[in-house]
Amino acid sequence: MKLGRRHRLERPVTWVALAGFMGTGKSRIGWELSRRLGLNFIDTDRVIERVSCLRIPDLFELYGESVFRDYESEVVRRALRLDDVVVSTGGGTVTRPENREMLLSRGPVIVLTASPETIYKRTRRHKRPLLEIGNPVERISELMNARRGAYTAAASLQVSTDGRFSADVVEEIVERLWEWREAAEKVRA
Ligand code: S3P
Repeated sequence: MKLGRRHRLERPVTWVALAGFMGTGKSRIGWELSRRLGLNFIDTDRVIERVSCLRIPDLFELYGESVFRDYESEVVRRALRLDDVVVSTGGGTVTRPENREMLLSRGPVIVLTASPETIYKRTRRHKRPLLEIGNPVERISELMNARRGAYTAAASLQVSTDGRFSADVVEEIVERLWEWREAAEKVRA
């Protein structure tokens, strides 16, 4: 029996990044996607916490957002050198054009999406410095609107996580990554 291409090749990509607003599921989906594809996993926020020896809210409070953003760009730069990895980024990573360019130069960027209400439910128990002002759902909507262009510019693919099981989201990502790869190969041929 002749095996189809998708069966002969184990996985569509060996490097992929996840981006999107806080609470869209980047870390959870990123981890599960890495298991599904047999790749390593890194989360840029966790790397920043390890190298700075600070939790992100403390880093924001002590040194401010711009120092955090510089750490973030440096971690993205280093993540480009890794092979066989799923890279989960922070919610604001792709707001810097240089970060978007770096990520997209290395491989596909999957932008996860969810509604402001879902995001509020997912983030309310965890400290997110940028959401601690005013009415949280309004603040989420405002920030999301302000960042919409950056997410669109960063996305090789956009996938909704609203009201879905993570396993279903992962399957959709894998399927669409095969399509992405086939399209990329056609352009190159
Ligand atoms: C941020 C998102 C957070 C973290 C920091 C800033 C943002 O990551 O990087 O609090 O600017 O949206 P998550 O998206 O993993 O929550």
